[in-house]
Amino acid sequence: MKQQLVDKFLEIYGDGDAVDVYFAPGRVNLIGEHTDYNGGHVFPCAITIGTYAVARRRTDDSVRLYSLNYPENGMIQASLRDLVYRKKDGWGNYPKGVLQTFISKGCQIPYGVEILYYGEIPKGLGIGSSASLGVVTGLILKELMELKDINMVDIALFTQLAENEYIGAGSGIMDPFTIAMGKKNHAIFLDTSDLSYIYAPLLLPHEKIIITNSQKSRLAVDERYQERRAQCEQALKELQRVVAIRDLGELTAEVFEQVQEMIESPIRLKRARHAVTENQRTIQAVEALERGDIEEFGQLMNASHLSLKEDYEVSCEELDILVEESWDIEGVLGSRMMGAGFGGCMISIVKNSAVNEFINHVGEHYKERTGLVAEFYVVETGNGAAKI
Ligand code: GLA
Repeated sequence: MKQQLVDKFLEIYGDGDAVDVYFAPGRVNLIGEHTDYNGGHVFPCAITIGTYAVARRRTDDSVRLYSLNYPENGMIQASLRDLVYRKKDGWGNYPKGVLQTFISKGCQIPYGVEILYYGEIPKGLGIGSSASLGVVTGLILKELMELKDINMVDIALFTQLAENEYIGAGSGIMDPFTIAMGKKNHAIFLDTSDLSYIYAPLLLPHEKIIITNSQKSRLAVDERYQERRAQCEQALKELQRVVAIRDLGELTAEVFEQVQEMIESPIRLKRARHAVTENQRTIQAVEALERGDIEEFGQLMNASHLSLKEDYEVSCEELDILVEESWDIEGVLGSRMMGAGFGGCMISIVKNSAVNEFINHVGEHYKERTGLVAEFYVVETGNGAAKI
């Protein structure tokens, strides 16, 4: 793979200085959904598939970007002096946004770059393909421009900033943080209120983590994501009249019960209840995993799904069917929708002995009930972004 990508790079950009190859993974999130912009906890891990990039510094200030996934877009060209968002640049706006963010944060980028990308992450699955593209670009800039003061957490923060401010997507810190900081055989227990984290061992010798692609395309996901964010922010303001908190993630379920009547709309009450209870479930799930109680971990995943469906209302019929069908199988410890929602995928923890039954049963029943053909991926944990 590495050599093939280098050959392709040389074919596109021509011979010249030596090149380096970089990789940034995708991510899955075991539990802690829609908590990362509410100052709550998340529990994701990096996976072995992701985005490869071959890169070289230029001697002038031009920027050349090419993706093997979008050959129809051809080479995206820009310069360090002109990195404005251009619709026609499509996917290329992500790396441009990262470059622009590095520059606006005061990083010295005296030279342009030429980069070839190849992403393995299926689009629309919701496992961090855009953050993976952003983080790999950030890592390339750090290495090629010798930005010694920039660490992996900075790269994650700049990637999020690029997504929020340059692209205009509302995403939280979970995806870029996991992709930059992931560690094989571990999940990251991240407190998004202050970015403190611990690596929790995730070995699961008797189980597999399975991602099921609903193949349901996500409609207006950004808009509905922003709407949830705004509802939580408003609920927080209402609660702040009686409790001194900065984020919903600071509340325990008990305190929330006592103060919830401050929230003036039933919808905002449900949204805030999800943010609070999901954060608590995430904390409990990590404790359960540390005790080796994977059964309890799975039950908390199931409860997470119900909360996402009923209180946060980010599931959809297709995801609910996948989850229901998976719950029918004995060897399924837990299943829930994963990511932003409204389509995308389900994450499940399945006993090794039940994997075939899971794929057959869920696949068949899902097709019968929706007409869609689900896709299954067995996930392996991997390391965060690195030069390879
Ligand atoms: C998307 C965002 C993340 C997070 C999840 C929901 O994946 O990119 O930051 O908010 O939705 O948990």
